[in-house]
Amino acid sequence: MASIKQIEIEKKKACVIGGTGFVASLLIKQLLEKGYAVNTTVRDLDSANKTSHLIALQSLGELNLFKAELTIEEDFDAPISGCELVFQLATPVNFASQDPENDMIKPAIKGVLNVLKACVRAKEVKRVILTSSAAAVTINELEGTGHVMDETNWSDVEFLNTAKPPTWGYPVSKVLAEKAAWKFAEENNIDLITVIPTLTIGPSLTQDIPSSVAMGMSLLTGNDFLINALKGMQFLSGSISITHVEDICRAHIFVAEKESTSGRYICCAHNTSVPELAKFLSKRYPQYKVPTEFDDFPSKAKLIISSGKLIKEGFSFKHSIAETFDQTVEYLKTQGIK
Ligand SMILES: NC(=O)c1ccc[n+]([C@@H]2O[C@H](COP(=O)([O-])OP(=O)(O)OC[C@H]3O[C@@H](n4cnc5c(N)ncnc54)[C@H](OP(=O)(O)O)[C@@H]3O)[C@@H](O)[C@H]2O)c1
Repeated sequence: MASIKQIEIEKKKACVIGGTGFVASLLIKQLLEKGYAVNTTVRDLDSANKTSHLIALQSLGELNLFKAELTIEEDFDAPISGCELVFQLATPVNFASQDPENDMIKPAIKGVLNVLKACVRAKEVKRVILTSSAAAVTINELEGTGHVMDETNWSDVEFLNTAKPPTWGYPVSKVLAEKAAWKFAEENNIDLITVIPTLTIGPSLTQDIPSSVAMGMSLLTGNDFLINALKGMQFLSGSISITHVEDICRAHIFVAEKESTSGRYICCAHNTSVPELAKFLSKRYPQYKVPTEFDDFPSKAKLIISSGKLIKEGFSFKHSIAETFDQTVEYLKTQGIK
C-alpha cells in the first residue's frame, strides 16, 4: 500500500460501497463538495427510487455508479480501481429475518472480505474506512449504571448467540464483519480504519425515510412499534446514543484524511435514555404528544459511549442535540410527517 501522504497531491478519488444508503449518500455529497471524484456501488442501477438522489448529486462533481452485490467478489474490482480511499458502508439489514445467519451475518462478513480483497488487487488504495456500529461495542451483561464504553469494547457475541434477544443478528453481523476485516487487513497489510456510529438521525437525501431516523424520531411521531424498538435498543445496548448524520459523515472523512489515525473510532455525540430523551423532546416540542410516563422502565442509561479518541485526534461535533432534532423535525415535515 502506498502512503496516505500522497492523497494531498494526487487527484483524489474515493469509492463509496453502498451509495444508496442514508449515511453513504450524504458521505458522497460531502466528498464531492470537498473536490473528490467518487465511484459508488449500488445493487440495482435500474431502480429510480434507489438511485435518483445519487443522479442528482452528479451536478456537484464526478460521480460514477457501478452495480455491485456484497456477495459477488468480482463486482468490486471496477468501482475500486483507481481509488485512494475506499469507504465500505453497505451491510445487509433485516431485523425481521427468521434466518439472521444467512440473511445478515454471512453476507456481512463475506461482503467486507470481498471489498478488502478487491482493495488488495487495486494497487492505488491507500486506506479503507469500514463503517461498524455501536451495536458491535456495547452489548454485554454488565449490571448497574455509569459504565463507559470505548474502542476496546466488543459486544458479547456468545451472549447474543445464546440468548438470541430481538434483533440479535444485526449486532453479531457487525462484530464478526469488523473482526474479520481487522484480521484480513493485518494479514494483507491494509491500512484499515473503522468508524463506529451510534443511532443516526438528521435529514436524508434518500427517497424513503431511513429506518434509524424513523426509530430515533418515534417519540415525536408516536409510532408505538418504533417506540418499543427504541426501548428495546436501550434495554439491549445500554443507552440511547444519538448522532447527526452530517457529523457521522464528517467523521468518516476526518479519519480517512488524517494520516495519524489508526484503529477504531467511536462517533457518538449524545448519550441519553428513552425517558430522558422523552422529557427533553416534550419540553422542546410541546406541540407533539410525547409520552413521558415509562413506569418501571430504567430512567437512566446503563452506559455512555465515549468519542474521546476521535475528539483527541482533533474532531469536533458540529450539531448539538437540539439542532440534531430540530433539523430532523424539519426534514420529516418535508416528507409529510408533522
Ligand atoms: N443509521 C444508523 O443509525 C447506523 C448506526 C450505526 C451504524 N450504522 C452503519 O452505517 C452503515 C450505513 O447505514 P445506513 O443507516 O446508511 O444504512 P442503509 O440506509 O440501510 O444502507 C445500507 C446500504 O447497504 C446496501 N446493502 C445491503 N445489503 C447489500 C448487499 N447484499 N449487497 C450490496 N449492498 C447491500 C443497501 O443497498 P440497497 O439500497 O440496494 O438496499 C444500502 O445501500 C451500515 O454499515 C450500518 O451498519 C448505521
